[in-house]
Amino acid sequence: MENKKWYKEMSVYQIWPRSFCDGNGDGIGDLKGIISKLDYIKSIGVDAIWFSPLYPSPNADYGYDIADYKDISKDYGTLEEFKTLLDEAHKRGLKVIMDLVVNHTSDQHKWFLESKKSEDNPYHNYYIWRKGRKPGKEPNNWLSTFQGKAWEYCKELDKYYLHVFAKEQPDLNMDNPKVREEVKSIMRFWLDMGVDGFREDVITFISKKEGLPNGFPLPTATGIEHYMNGPHLREYLREFKDVLDEYDCFTVGEAPMMTTKRALRFIKEGDGQLLNMMFHFEHMSADNIITNWIRTPFNPGKLKKVYARWQKDLYGKAWNALYIENHDQPRIISRYGSEKYRVESGKMLATMYILQSGTPFIYQGQEIGMLNANLPTIDRYKDVSSINTYKLFRKFGISDKITMKFCMYASRDNARTPMQWSAEKNAGFTSAQEPWFEVNPNYKSINVEQAENDPNSILNYYRKILKFRKENDIVKYGDFELLKTQRKLFAYVRSYKGQKLLVINSFSEGDMPFTAPKDFDLEKAELVLYNYEDNPVIHNGFMTRPYETRVYFLK
Ligand code: NOJ
Repeated sequence: MENKKWYKEMSVYQIWPRSFCDGNGDGIGDLKGIISKLDYIKSIGVDAIWFSPLYPSPNADYGYDIADYKDISKDYGTLEEFKTLLDEAHKRGLKVIMDLVVNHTSDQHKWFLESKKSEDNPYHNYYIWRKGRKPGKEPNNWLSTFQGKAWEYCKELDKYYLHVFAKEQPDLNMDNPKVREEVKSIMRFWLDMGVDGFREDVITFISKKEGLPNGFPLPTATGIEHYMNGPHLREYLREFKDVLDEYDCFTVGEAPMMTTKRALRFIKEGDGQLLNMMFHFEHMSADNIITNWIRTPFNPGKLKKVYARWQKDLYGKAWNALYIENHDQPRIISRYGSEKYRVESGKMLATMYILQSGTPFIYQGQEIGMLNANLPTIDRYKDVSSINTYKLFRKFGISDKITMKFCMYASRDNARTPMQWSAEKNAGFTSAQEPWFEVNPNYKSINVEQAENDPNSILNYYRKILKFRKENDIVKYGDFELLKTQRKLFAYVRSYKGQKLLVINSFSEGDMPFTAPKDFDLEKAELVLYNYEDNPVIHNGFMTRPYETRVYFLK
């Protein structure tokens, strides 16, 4: 029934290399730095590392604009060093997952440089070139998800190329079989070297609708309905899967606006399966409408509903990818938790998602409870999408003050400040005078060294919870039932082979009554995880304290 697989058993640590650890003192994170922290990563209790792109890149989108798929960026090291890293990771029992970004390349990739030389160039059809509708008018009304038009004009060819992200990220023409061969060759290159799988960047965008029709007008990403889950997506993924099947590897596809029903068409187990799991975004919208830039008050009811749906609809059929942070999302404590109750809410949030069924992903710094950077002026930002969105808001006449309020809350840069290792200068991230990006000034109190020395730290809680998950199949394979509770409580029961696990999480700063279901005797159960010292029970329930979490195990 449970169809056990190694990738279901594992948990994954995500590294955004530029900000993880600088080993050579140039202010930029690198492979040497990562190697020096492998024991730390292993100590958290994870089984794999996913690396955001390590490849050569002009960094218009910090690595998601790739200039060479088969090499390592000089900023980070060399291919030889990567092989050492791979080896050292494997020696410690850590799998390695690479980021596969094939919806687009960098505009500095040799394919693109060739492509724009002439229409007869063998690489021309690697990209999506079109004539304008008339002089000066783009081929259609599509807008980039990073703001502005999705087309860039090339004078030499009198044609436009499509870029659904930044203009430095031209979209590949996946309808060209040669491009698909290139993708397969990239996969083989890394898999032959020994990597264990891929996180596939916006993989659901790779097939565009024939004729590239105008899209429904939106303030941003107009046209998305014509390339999200496009007409040939399954076909192309099938081709890629045939290669992947030659290896014992794993894939997780990034899938914006994905629903459970649609997801099953890609991740349902069996012959038709195309990806092992997907990163959907529905649970990241409990404090916004579609994008982090349109903020609404945090709604725990919405969060619970989404989680319950994904748990239920996939159970026994497909596998969830569980995450609450990554390099595109502001820090979760600053969003769904509370900076005031940082430690309590950090532990509660970990419990809330890791004890669901699925493979948990943990983003660097999440395990020590890092917070949003909240940079107050736009000149201090590095992220292209934040800078472009700022400009767009200003263009619509929104004041700098108000725009910055949104930016401070929504920017991806909140997750990209250097990892906080210690209370030393630059948080111990680099020995250089200046790191490439500013360190969050709270590093003196929030850092790995502090967390190591505090038995009650968020870090030590992550260690406990990951160990508990590893040792208990109920966490991985049990079914999931959402309990009816107060809106700000998120309680669920997992059941497996006669065992039961009751998980109670409070999203409130206040106290709230909780009563366990009748068939669950709290007195008889073992309290296995909690974030307050004393844990009294009265009448098979208790009054929850701010951001309290408790986990009871009934064997
Ligand atoms: C999703 C990645 O996670 C994000 O960082 C990137 O900007 C876009 N895809 C474009 O590659």
